[in-house]
Amino acid sequence: MRMSVIGCGYLGAVHAAAMASIGHDVVGIDVDEQKVAALAGGIAPFFEPQLDELLREGLDSGRLRFSTDMAESADAAVHFLAVGTPQVAGGHAADLRFVDAAIEALLPHLRPGHVVAGKSTVPVGTAARLAGSIAESGAVLVWNPEFLREGWAVHDTITPDRLVVGIPPTDAGDAAAELLREAYAPAIAAGAPFLVTDLATAELVKGAANAFLATKISFINAMAEIAEASGADVTLLADALGHDTRIGRRYLGSGIGFGGGCLPKDIRAFAARAEELGRGEAVGFLREVDGINLRRRDRAVQLVVDALGGLVFGKRIAVLGAAFKPFSDDIRDSPALDVAVRLRGLGADVVVTDPAALPNAAAAHPQLGYAVERDDALRDADAVVVVTEWDLYRREMSPEHAGALVAGRVIVDGRNCLDADAWRAAGWSYHGMGRR
Ligand code: UGA
Repeated sequence: MRMSVIGCGYLGAVHAAAMASIGHDVVGIDVDEQKVAALAGGIAPFFEPQLDELLREGLDSGRLRFSTDMAESADAAVHFLAVGTPQVAGGHAADLRFVDAAIEALLPHLRPGHVVAGKSTVPVGTAARLAGSIAESGAVLVWNPEFLREGWAVHDTITPDRLVVGIPPTDAGDAAAELLREAYAPAIAAGAPFLVTDLATAELVKGAANAFLATKISFINAMAEIAEASGADVTLLADALGHDTRIGRRYLGSGIGFGGGCLPKDIRAFAARAEELGRGEAVGFLREVDGINLRRRDRAVQLVVDALGGLVFGKRIAVLGAAFKPFSDDIRDSPALDVAVRLRGLGADVVVTDPAALPNAAAAHPQLGYAVERDDALRDADAVVVVTEWDLYRREMSPEHAGALVAGRVIVDGRNCLDADAWRAAGWSYHGMGRR
């Protein structure tokens, strides 16, 4: 099937390469010339496991190409819309200017029978607003939200846990759903449920999914606050809760909380849209979810200050991690970097290291110290803070090895990912978040 993917960021680049890998003929379109040049050369402009291989395979097969020219999308049967929807400056709502610009640029190239499939995360009601102008060209707009996780994006795109398509209540809508069923045939054959809904429900599924995940993380982090006050251990609590299959252990990882380009801005946009709909009260808890999440960053900083006897000024602190999570170089709203910046603000001599995100971090925060190698960051540190749970810190760093490098054996585990007993046994002063 001929397809275009409009917007080649974390979502679109992976979607384009994945669609080509299952046999479709795909053109990825983006306004950013540098990004298009990198992708066309088989190099992902960001860190994403398996993406380079998938790009090269697609480019070599002739089924995948990239362009800045929207006219290249003209012969596609399906146009996937994958542009970003960041948080609006000065507010909590989603900024839809890239969605609007992409649709405006696409309109002259739409033909009767074409399907425009929105994948971007948008406030409920966006599809209804856009549907009219698309219908005038004889094309039809459907909404097909994306649930991929960065770091697992290739896996999640090729083997999604579900496919959701919101369609208008027309014959053209039914035909569009069939076309998407064909487009995703391998995933459906492998067992992925294919759910057809109305447009508003499809938009809501995405917002609700991210709101739920954020709520689950903040729930366990709220329990961490209670554990801190009562002498309990939140990781044991999470294990015990997780055995209840109605609850489940996933997304009960406690620590410095969630960040990235999705969960934080999506819960805010969701709440902002609910307000517009006159139902702000229904999701008032999302403000708490946000607040709990941000409080954990304060708490991590306070733990470091306390662990160093109340003063971090002039102390050398190794910050292990900059990305908002492992297997990513994404530093958007990264709690890890936020903690580093705050420690620096208190006068600490901060040295940040990360196996993937260092260039992005250094560009955004040139005031911080950086070390490419983990051990260089550890050397002579008065305290170590683990803020992104890369295997390099979680599994491949022994307390003895690190202990031989640092000036002081003080470690704050911002992701509750280390074996506290092993670190204590090696003479470290270990501080988890909500752990005994
Ligand atoms: C999230 C969703 O998981 C995807 O389903 C969704 O498609 C995506 O947003 C999106 O809207 O595009 P992602 O932002 O890649 O994916 O990251 P997650 O793996 O969900 O992690 C988000 C944050 O939560 C990270 O900072 C992570 O460290 C944190 N987290 C995650 C926890 O603090 N505890 C956990 O137990 C799990």
